[in-house]
Amino acid sequence: VCFDTIIRGARVVTPAGVARCEIGISGGRIAALGLSLGEATEIIEAEGLIAMPGGIDSHVHISQPSGPGIEMADDFGSATRAAVAGGNTTVLPFCLPEDGQSLRVAVAEYHAKAAGNCHCDVSFHLIVKATDPVTLGQDLPALIAAGHTSFKVFMTYQGLALSDREILEVMSVAKEQGALVMVHAENEDAIEFLRDKAEREGQTDPLFHARTRPVPVEREATHRAITLAEIADVPLTIVHVSNGESLEEIRRSRARGAKVFAETCPQYITLTAADLDRAGFEGAKYVCSPPPRAASDWEAIWSGICNGDFELFSSDHCPFRFADPAGKDAPGARTSFRNIPNGIPGVETRLPILFSEGVSKGRISLERFAAITATNHARLYGLKTKGAIMVGMDADIVLWDPEMTREIRQDDLHHGSDYTPWEGFTVTGWPVRTILRGETVMHEGDVSGVPTGAHIARSAPEVLL
Ligand code: URP
Ligand code: ZN
Ligand code: ZN
Ligand code: ZN
Repeated sequence: VCFDTIIRGARVVTPAGVARCEIGISGGRIAALGLSLGEATEIIEAEGLIAMPGGIDSHVHISQPSGPGIEMADDFGSATRAAVAGGNTTVLPFCLPEDGQSLRVAVAEYHAKAAGNCHCDVSFHLIVKATDPVTLGQDLPALIAAGHTSFKVFMTYQGLALSDREILEVMSVAKEQGALVMVHAENEDAIEFLRDKAEREGQTDPLFHARTRPVPVEREATHRAITLAEIADVPLTIVHVSNGESLEEIRRSRARGAKVFAETCPQYITLTAADLDRAGFEGAKYVCSPPPRAASDWEAIWSGICNGDFELFSSDHCPFRFADPAGKDAPGARTSFRNIPNGIPGVETRLPILFSEGVSKGRISLERFAAITATNHARLYGLKTKGAIMVGMDADIVLWDPEMTREIRQDDLHHGSDYTPWEGFTVTGWPVRTILRGETVMHEGDVSGVPTGAHIARSAPEVLL
């Protein structure tokens, strides 16, 4: 046989362990793994490199409506260019309807915005913000049947937050139709109480975004979301877990048999609330929800990453520009943190940060890295042909140089934001080539000009089968 491509000389991270072997690729799929595979049209010499499944970032926000006058910094072109530059081959953004827009129409619009513009493969989660009969009785079942097998509900943000009753109604649709519910767990009433009080006392700087969303706000909502899922008898993903007390709720629920999955993000092992206190309004660059916590929480999150409590490590990429009234410097943002758009860019830096802090520093194995950055995302969210270097799977592969040390610099990044929260952060280990269904889409920082990403319809989450 003659393969389209053979990758030669790499250490290959497979579900069965790390092996030094060749990867034969044909027709965009992994056709063979073995020694001396023979001939190919293209040989990629990868001596000294590590071949990993392409990163799957199952939590990114792209081109979402963000309030009057506010604009996210990325469109599908720039976000997915950044994604492949950072070693990803699939991203799962959210489809958020405009106020009054139906979920069905919103999904069609997102598909149109993404079509032909993506540098990696894409599939959409839904955000359920309305629980009217059309949404729950018609749109949601039809969209689940069409491959949108997961959706997020919010317990915070005015206009998005659902009541406990509404969350139960949404969960019951998930149960009937076979979809996985993801929850943003923060107690909105408590936040509003603390925010109003802070503003009355003149505590309006970005730091007070973190002070008015303290750990108990997240811990209580995490407990309540899990309780609702137990009542509705559905599995649940708790996204962006920021601290040890919330993780403890997850552990306790699992001990009594609840089916709960947990996600964390780079910001919760590298940033702290003190970053929101940086001078000159720079703190706004770090405003996201849940907020970065204390360095002591980093250790709690690491323990969960190391022992398997976290299935998922995602970016929660939600980019705004800093020096821009359509972004972090929104009208009124300097008067009160409440007007600063929530979210930080991170789709390009997620994998290098975890590789460096996790693998290079000896905290986690290559296998665990692959599991929480790719394999588990594919299994949990129904991407059947993705997430593992195995014969028959899509040839979505990223080659890492484990020795390369560099500083993260905004100037080198591909996203649409005008800053990175990790400016000057030093990492060891860098993705040097990203291969999407057999084709190189990024090599040494250069992203191919042709966006070849496709929309992927998903199967039922593996946990539901
Ligand atoms: O602050 C954040 N994380 N913004 C993105 C939306 C969300 O809640 O995930
Ligand atoms: Zn779709
Ligand atoms: Zn969220
Ligand atoms: Zn998010």
